[in-house]
Amino acid sequence: MIIARTLPELRAATAKLGAPGFVPTMGALHLGHLSLIAAAKASGRPVAASIFVNPLQFAPNEDFARYPRDEAGDLAKLESAGCNLVWLPDVDTMYPADAATTINLAGPALRWEGASRPTHFAGVATVVAKLLGQVRPEAAYFGEKDWQQVQVITRMAADLLLPVEIVPVPTVREADGLALSSRNRFLLPAEREAAPALFAGLKSAATDIAAGAPPNATLEAAKQALIQSGMTPDYLALVHANTLDPLETFVHPGRIIAAARLGAIRLLDNVPVA
Ligand code: PAJ
Repeated sequence: MIIARTLPELRAATAKLGAPGFVPTMGALHLGHLSLIAAAKASGRPVAASIFVNPLQFAPNEDFARYPRDEAGDLAKLESAGCNLVWLPDVDTMYPADAATTINLAGPALRWEGASRPTHFAGVATVVAKLLGQVRPEAAYFGEKDWQQVQVITRMAADLLLPVEIVPVPTVREADGLALSSRNRFLLPAEREAAPALFAGLKSAATDIAAGAPPNATLEAAKQALIQSGMTPDYLALVHANTLDPLETFVHPGRIIAAARLGAIRLLDNVPVA
């Protein structure tokens, strides 16, 4: 596995390996991230991952400073997963002092996470555009765990005519349904026990709505159930899966997306409405 920390090292590695399948991450890797590596590997291309905790996507009041970091552990996991190249840029490489360009988003970026965290997706899109320009992959892999993020990146790649295929990868979950996340480690034991209620609530709402139950009443009942489990729902909504526009009545392709605070952690999850 080649480790590149500078742009010349990265350029030499991609020249040697050829255009890769690419998995951008912020590290603290778990089996969700490794499923993206496996999906990239299955394409038959060389696989590149990046680890960069992107300051631009954290607001000043968010957890940038205490975001978990474990470079040695991450490199060992990537090596065992068969990753061929790891790109580890520093902040000055990603954001040189004279940088003057960021990505400005509308459409699927505006609501939900975009409303709760107004600068977040511009930070994500800007760093992903730069990473794609550096790594120059044929395909890039993103987890459905962050459903809105995948839609924002897919829209950006289409709008900017980026020569890359954006590939969504299904969410990896614990046995009890909780979606794997680097931040789950901060859940206290009682919170960890309550956390699977989010996925359970989304799944049962999706089943009911697909069977013809009225969306608004169903979502409201699901919200109340989350509150009963000790969560503070931020949003829980039936949306068009690609535009993220809210749906008053169910039409395909529908998705239920949710964010809820549990203790110090904000849990995110989403399910299809089949
Ligand atoms: P990060 O949170 O490290 O996630 C990296 C990738 O792993 C994302 O595409 C995310 O959706 C995916 N992922 C996380 N948990 C997952 C799970 N349980 N199952 C499947 N995939 C999962 O998302 C980011 O980093 C950043 O915003 C980034 C795109 C790297 C830009 O900085």
